[in-house]
Amino acid sequence: MSQTSPVELAMAGRGRIDWASRSMPALQQALQRLLEQGSVAGMRIGISLVLEPKTANLVIGLQQAGAQVAVFAPPDCTDVEVIAALEERRIAVFSDPAANEAENLELARAFLRTNPQILVDDGAWVTRLAHREFPQLVESMLGATEETTSGVRPLRVMEEQGELKIPVIAVNDSPLKYLFDNVYGTGQSCVMALLDLTNLQIAGRRVLVIGYGWVGKGVAQHATALGALVSVAEIDPIKALQAQHDGHRVCSVQAAAPDCEVVFAATGIAGVLTAEHLASMPSGVILCTAGGGDFELPMTFLRAQGEPRNLRDHIDEYQLDDGRAVIVVADGHCINCTGGEGNPIEIMDLSLALQACAIETLARTTEPLVPGVHRIARDIETQIAAQRLAHAGASTEPLTPALEAALRDW
Ligand SMILES: NC(=O)c1ccc[n+]([C@@H]2O[C@H](COP(=O)([O-])OP(=O)(O)OC[C@H]3O[C@@H](n4cnc5c(N)ncnc54)[C@H](O)[C@@H]3O)[C@@H](O)[C@H]2O)c1
Repeated sequence: MSQTSPVELAMAGRGRIDWASRSMPALQQALQRLLEQGSVAGMRIGISLVLEPKTANLVIGLQQAGAQVAVFAPPDCTDVEVIAALEERRIAVFSDPAANEAENLELARAFLRTNPQILVDDGAWVTRLAHREFPQLVESMLGATEETTSGVRPLRVMEEQGELKIPVIAVNDSPLKYLFDNVYGTGQSCVMALLDLTNLQIAGRRVLVIGYGWVGKGVAQHATALGALVSVAEIDPIKALQAQHDGHRVCSVQAAAPDCEVVFAATGIAGVLTAEHLASMPSGVILCTAGGGDFELPMTFLRAQGEPRNLRDHIDEYQLDDGRAVIVVADGHCINCTGGEGNPIEIMDLSLALQACAIETLARTTEPLVPGVHRIARDIETQIAAQRLAHAGASTEPLTPALEAALRDW
């Protein structure tokens, strides 16, 4: 079989990056402002996001705005075509899809040795690594941004314990992020990745969604829309009640197990599906993660059962001692990032425009933020939302003086 050359890989990557850029007006506008105002010119920026065509647009835009950009992505969240396209632009990429755990750690360390003044992180893994192993770098940093729920949680713990030494803008905590990316984006891309990877139908299948936060809600909504029979397991009574009002069966994982055909873990918490749960599931059950990663599934138990049989791309079958089989998609990693192309372009336009604005805020050295977890300013969120509405030919209701008066009436 002939190997694809770096030039061919880069060309393919470039095409996909260009395609994404056509539907990312909010990101383009934010980047244009950075370019015109010179806000990041000469600044070292480290990007640790899922490496795919949308995030590549942020990387390239920052480079065009004059920043020295370095990129890190773990092996389950990277893309050789995008790597080639970025390297063609002389952007330093620290990512290898074939890296093992130790090699990946070395890549992350090498990435941090580029001394980023601003770090854009996803899951706070690199931010935590920097705090543990690169205290001098941390001291010199302007700050970081955080993309997802799983990253904001440990950062808040670090803040409470006085261990967070830099300002971090929690992009995830913007409603323009979690109400769109986590719900619609992840919901659509995880369900579609499962269908694409398996070539199966979901209609009529019994699907268990564990966790009914933003991601679980989106996954349940998209699976239901395609005819799946969805059960939801939740530890929070309010979220569980919400799932019931959205029309889903609400029960424990144990209660759903006997007739469960597909499981989506959507919590970001380790060990939410256990080997004990698996014991009562039917042979052929399909497990995937829509949330934080493979730690949500009983992968340690499954891997101890022996080498899985690879059935097709990203689909592995584990044989249990009792004769039953368990199918795992994308090796238990986030199905949409490892087995698909991540969230839809329009959704990532919002998330990455917020990231660009967060970088702009951190780069404003005249008004440095104090160490701690910060939110994106409200006016930035409304501006981006209004812009996307306008791009779609929609608009908000004009606020007349009479309406404004009515809003203030008591
Ligand atoms: N794949 C992606 O593209 C993508 C995108 C956004 C977020 N995420 C990740 O998805 C995960 C979920 O994000 P979110 O924004 O929905 O978080 P969230 O905090 O809104 O939701 C998590 C839910 O899981 C529930 N939960 C926790 N432990 C549970 C258990 N043992 N059983 C049942 N329910 C349990 C919580 O009560 C909560 O309602 C996070 O790890 C986040 O980082 C992934």
